[in-house]
Amino acid sequence: METKRKETRKSLRIKVISMGNAEVGKSCVIKRYCEKRFVPKYLATIGIDYGVTKVQIRDREIKVNIFDMAGHSFFYEVRNEFYKDTQGVILVYDVGQKESFNALDLWLAEMKQELGPHGNMENIVFVVCANKIDCGKLRCVVESEGRLWAESRGFLYFETSAQTGEGINEMFQTFYSAIVDLCDNGGKRPITSASNSFTKEQVDTIRRIRNSKDSWDMLGVKPGTTRDEVNKAYRKLAVLLHPDKCMAPGSEDAFKAVVNARTALLKNIK
Ligand code: GTP
Ligand code: MG
Repeated sequence: METKRKETRKSLRIKVISMGNAEVGKSCVIKRYCEKRFVPKYLATIGIDYGVTKVQIRDREIKVNIFDMAGHSFFYEVRNEFYKDTQGVILVYDVGQKESFNALDLWLAEMKQELGPHGNMENIVFVVCANKIDCGKLRCVVESEGRLWAESRGFLYFETSAQTGEGINEMFQTFYSAIVDLCDNGGKRPITSASNSFTKEQVDTIRRIRNSKDSWDMLGVKPGTTRDEVNKAYRKLAVLLHPDKCMAPGSEDAFKAVVNARTALLKNIK
């Protein structure tokens, strides 16, 4: 009797769903993990694919119900009812397709809308897969950009390739572990150390620097301003973003860009 009760406590049943634009590789990422194989030919998911797998996480056996969603917008009507009662979401984009990265916000919005005003996205584990990292030169979304998007929201982030298998096992293991932690924590997402170790100001500043149109814009000063003003603006950013102090993804690149912007501006100011 005692043993039986113990086992019931240990086994766990969870629901996870996949999200992301059509053709980014959602089905292939799942297939690579569950069936250890890759199919190069594109077979669009029609509506939803459903599967069950058992995985062992630490001392737990967990039964995972996977709902692999179709990315095409015309399947919206089929997808929308599957968002509820989910513990984990695999959000996938293709690193060679900027649009699929930009669409992540829209996927979150669709889910939020379907869950309605009483739905709670805080207590779901999200993992972002930057997929197709085998694509080499075609890559246009860099790691720090994806990582920043994910980690600033408290999401996990992994670089994956369903083709080569890189990152896949690690991603699923970490994802399932986080879901087990969530269930043990009374269904609340535990605070991750990553999302705790940098501030919103740092994240916003890195994003602003990445999108700035020139060196003036990057330092946040008006064209034609004085050396003093440039140095002042530079020092403020340097303190905020110095890689020794700032753990946010992309801070090192942003810091370097700021150093270069200052050098370039000072060269031209008498
Ligand atoms: P929908 O079901 O339509 O939403 O698409 P999906 O996101 O499930 O994409 P799917 O897994 O069917 O993969 C789309 C195409 O990308 C297929 O031709 C795959 O072979 C290819 N693909 C998937 N993952 C990878 C990868 O990591 N690298 C490369 N090179 N190709 C991949
Ligand atoms: Mg699919």
